[in-house]
Amino acid sequence: MADSYEIIDHAYDVVVVGAGGAGLRATVGLAEAGLKTACISKVFPTRSHTVAAQGGVSASLGNMGPDDWRWHMYDTVKGSDWLGDQDSIEYMCREAVPAIIELEHYGLPFSRTEDGKIYQRPFGGMTTNYGEGIAQRTCAAADRTGHAMLHTLYQQSVKHQVEFFIEYFATDLIMDDEGACRGVVAWNLDDGTIHRFAAKKVILATGGYGRAYFSATSAHTCTGDGGGMVLRAGLPMQDMEFVQFHPTGIYGSGALITEGSRGEGGYLTNSEGERFMERYAPSAKDLASRDVVSRSMTIEIREGRGVGGDNDHIHLHLEHLDPAVVEERLPGISETARIFAGVDVNKEPIPVIPTCHYNMGGIPTNYQGDVLNKTNGDATTVPGLMAIGEAACVSVHGANRLGSNSLLDLVVFGRSAAKHCAEVVDPSEAIRPVPEGGEQKSLDRLDKLRHAKGEVRTADLRLEMQRVMQNNCAVFRTGEVLDEGVKLMQEAIDKRDNLQVTDDSMIWNSDLVETLELQNLLDQSMVTMASAANRTESRGAHAREDYPDRDDDEWMKHTLAWVDHGGNVKIDYRPVVMQTLTNDVQVFPPKARVY
Ligand code: FUM
Repeated sequence: MADSYEIIDHAYDVVVVGAGGAGLRATVGLAEAGLKTACISKVFPTRSHTVAAQGGVSASLGNMGPDDWRWHMYDTVKGSDWLGDQDSIEYMCREAVPAIIELEHYGLPFSRTEDGKIYQRPFGGMTTNYGEGIAQRTCAAADRTGHAMLHTLYQQSVKHQVEFFIEYFATDLIMDDEGACRGVVAWNLDDGTIHRFAAKKVILATGGYGRAYFSATSAHTCTGDGGGMVLRAGLPMQDMEFVQFHPTGIYGSGALITEGSRGEGGYLTNSEGERFMERYAPSAKDLASRDVVSRSMTIEIREGRGVGGDNDHIHLHLEHLDPAVVEERLPGISETARIFAGVDVNKEPIPVIPTCHYNMGGIPTNYQGDVLNKTNGDATTVPGLMAIGEAACVSVHGANRLGSNSLLDLVVFGRSAAKHCAEVVDPSEAIRPVPEGGEQKSLDRLDKLRHAKGEVRTADLRLEMQRVMQNNCAVFRTGEVLDEGVKLMQEAIDKRDNLQVTDDSMIWNSDLVETLELQNLLDQSMVTMASAANRTESRGAHAREDYPDRDDDEWMKHTLAWVDHGGNVKIDYRPVVMQTLTNDVQVFPPKARVY
């Protein structure tokens, strides 16, 4: 018989799940629009993973030289290897400018030029004049831009007296029989109560699922909880095979060293002291896009030119830079390199290796944030459900995201989701209660895991999954390795009903939290592996050695993937949007992608 829980009801116009950059930007906009808004977060808002973002946020402000949002759009389409939806990319690059100026007015302490403008640095793949020159487009607050952004947005939320539910773990969506989302169930970690939120709109802003991998720059909290909820609700995830490896995670710990360090003049070398990126990307060199740099590093290591005793990593040099510039522009990574690699960046190179960093895939949405499903052959929106930020796949990043387009995605689509809600949600209309018993499935699941007395420890199963993802779905892939990955992931999923949770307390039960997170990770890992095995081409971050070329005739389409509790995956596809929103810019047709 099911446990009985104290259930507390709430009703809001909009409930935002997640308090990172996207969730907070949406929350601020919703509060400004006068909508009754709640923001639920499993961690204190300023501990959300956006706080770790370093190098900056892109926008064609033109503070350091000529720039144009169309050039930014071209770079983003090319960076995406033509898998990005061009309507959404147009929207993001155009809206970047007002969205960043708004942040400045909210009080974000950007670094400044001599004449007081927002400082902008070069970043990989960001060019002027459709690929001719190097753009300085990435607006930075030293190398702590995410920290500055998150604190600014949190302060704005406080100013607007937003209602936060902090250290509440959202467990499941509440869907009705017509397939609409009507709310969300959450567990208050502090007192063990269950909360049933009825809402006209639920916005998922729960971030990525980087912790599916063994070595990741992501925080331990990045477990894709929104994606897990969506899959359990019978909805698909999109383009999950596209996982970004950041070229410069510190060897051993995975801690991030910003691409901004190469933007400020840093470079990579192999064991022969060679600046090898000159061979792979003759024009952009160390500032080629991330998939290109990560692959080049991996090839150097594989061919025996890695550095260190095991020839298994690469050197990143900053020693030649003026220490005053390092101190002003890169103070955070100097500290990170000292703590995690024991390196003084002014004197010696940093040992680095490509490290799992970002999920291009996510919950499929349009540019307004409405979640998409595909039923009876047609893409349809899911009433009441929206998603933004890394949790979502808009898709502006397509097969590969450009550095500094992530913070931009958070801000632009957080803002657009709030604007969209302000247009379609009528605050004077009554909020319907959730359907009778709409929380029951979620409570049954919680009960089962809470009292799980099987043989497999959560930490062990998580490690098994992380190793499979790291070994079988990394920078380079083959059909054989991916098929084996699907089999190994199935073996992992088969253990999910044999878990052992040490304690059945509902108060600060971290083992239970990690078990719920693991459920979300397992489902997303499975669809990632299966989607990768199915895509028989190479595009952006999905590099198949057995299919080395991009195949636009067959594969210029988004993957949609569903999974059930037993790990059975269903895959379908939908077309890439090859049209713009306005006549101010034309579609960029596919061409070869060279840097
Ligand atoms: O390298 C970095 O600073 C990371 C930026 C990003 O992922 O956008």
